[in-house]
Amino acid sequence: VADLVADTRAARALGSALRRVGYTEDALTDALGDEAYDTGPDEVPVQDRRLADGKLATAIRLLFLQLPAATADVERALGRPAVEALAAVGLATVGDDVRASARIVPVGATLLASDGFSQDVDDPPDYVASYTPTARICDLLTPRPRIARALDVGTGSGIHAILAARHSEHVVATDVNPRALTYTEINAALNGLANVECRSGSLFDPANGERFGLITCNAPYVVSPERRWTYRDTELHGDETSARVIAGAAEHLDDGGYATLGVSWVAADPDEPDERVADWVRASGCDAWVLPAYGADPLDHASGWNSHLAPFRGDYERTIDSWREYLASLDAEWISEGIVVLHRRDGGRGGVRFDEIDEDDLDVAGDQVVRAFANRELLGQLRGDELLDERPRRTMEIRVETDLRGRRVATGVRLLGGTSSELAAPDGSAELMRLLDGKTKLRTALRTSGVAKRPGVRLVRELLELGALAV
Ligand SMILES: C[S@@+](CC[C@H](N)C(=O)[O-])C[C@H]1O[C@@H](n2cnc3c(N)ncnc32)[C@H](O)[C@@H]1O
Repeated sequence: VADLVADTRAARALGSALRRVGYTEDALTDALGDEAYDTGPDEVPVQDRRLADGKLATAIRLLFLQLPAATADVERALGRPAVEALAAVGLATVGDDVRASARIVPVGATLLASDGFSQDVDDPPDYVASYTPTARICDLLTPRPRIARALDVGTGSGIHAILAARHSEHVVATDVNPRALTYTEINAALNGLANVECRSGSLFDPANGERFGLITCNAPYVVSPERRWTYRDTELHGDETSARVIAGAAEHLDDGGYATLGVSWVAADPDEPDERVADWVRASGCDAWVLPAYGADPLDHASGWNSHLAPFRGDYERTIDSWREYLASLDAEWISEGIVVLHRRDGGRGGVRFDEIDEDDLDVAGDQVVRAFANRELLGQLRGDELLDERPRRTMEIRVETDLRGRRVATGVRLLGGTSSELAAPDGSAELMRLLDGKTKLRTALRTSGVAKRPGVRLVRELLELGALAV
């Protein structure tokens, strides 16, 4: 395996060559099907056979499927400078054929290099992962206003730093893993960006005393007794990493700034799973939106995070037992993982809202998050029945569903897009939603739709808090 080198000039040349052959997310799914991004090492031989010949196919074979390719073919596809760049940056070794030691995956408009397919137990401690499901959830829930400065803590491949660099003047990316920082420098250059500054150090140490308009951190949050992989484990006990990430982000946010944080928290009582995260966000002084994505009891948590050991029965059993013992020592009967979004408002009162999310139903929600916080601030200022004189407007598509089962009639609304949240709703909600056009006072919309005041106002408040309406 070649050593990684932050040769930014070479990385820029490589990025240009890949864009020239149309190495994009759309092209990959056209060539390999809708499941292209779920390709694992086992599917590589099948995906290889889906590809026709040509320049793009050669690039996909080499950099997405990580198959060796004849050097002459790669030169024909990407040009000689790109082959030299792959070698210079250390993403591949070049002889008679080119062998990639890394993968380059298009994520939207971003080209992302990271370590190759996971070898599970054989991954080195400093393995740098690609665009993982948790990275995706963080990305989708990140507000993206234009700002001066952003901070990405635990940057890994640099994905969140690079996404932030497109709407920030300057981005600071930190990690304790030197290989992660090298990937981040390479990835910034691969995408033609020159405004990402890498700093080595733990959590917020490298940004001591500085403030930012956006902070992202997909934390190494897994609660476990292990110290095996830097991307997953830290030296800290239990869920302490997550607590520090929330406190640190609050401390480093500008007034008006947002932080999107992938974190985890334990609970002694599975029926009250969110008490600790609620305490942390209250102590932060920020407005907070907590979006739990997964929850598990100790056995499911231990087996889920160690499924790679399943083929090694003895190891698997010993590991599950040691994780369960560790969780028992923490008095942890339930472990949650999810996103915490913070919004700092100097002089604000803070407040927290909880909504579960399902990663399969999640879509781009950055603007929704911004509206949700703005609406919560506004609702905090309205007195008595003042909301009835506002003219709410739908900002997202909303589906009203009626469920007829036996004698029960249950109405619900569902957001089509963003967090895809669902709410119970009173009868007549379809007409009420239609009337939320920005011109009609809520008072009139309720009267016209026949929805009773109390449940109608409750629904509209909820939809405002979810960012599905604006006033
Ligand atoms: C779950 S990975 C996320 C990587 C990347 N941000 C993403 O979303 O794909 C956690 C990252 O935190 C880094 N990390 C681990 N311990 C850290 C620490 N104490 N301070 C800063 N970063 C740390 C790891 O090296 C890894 O890159």
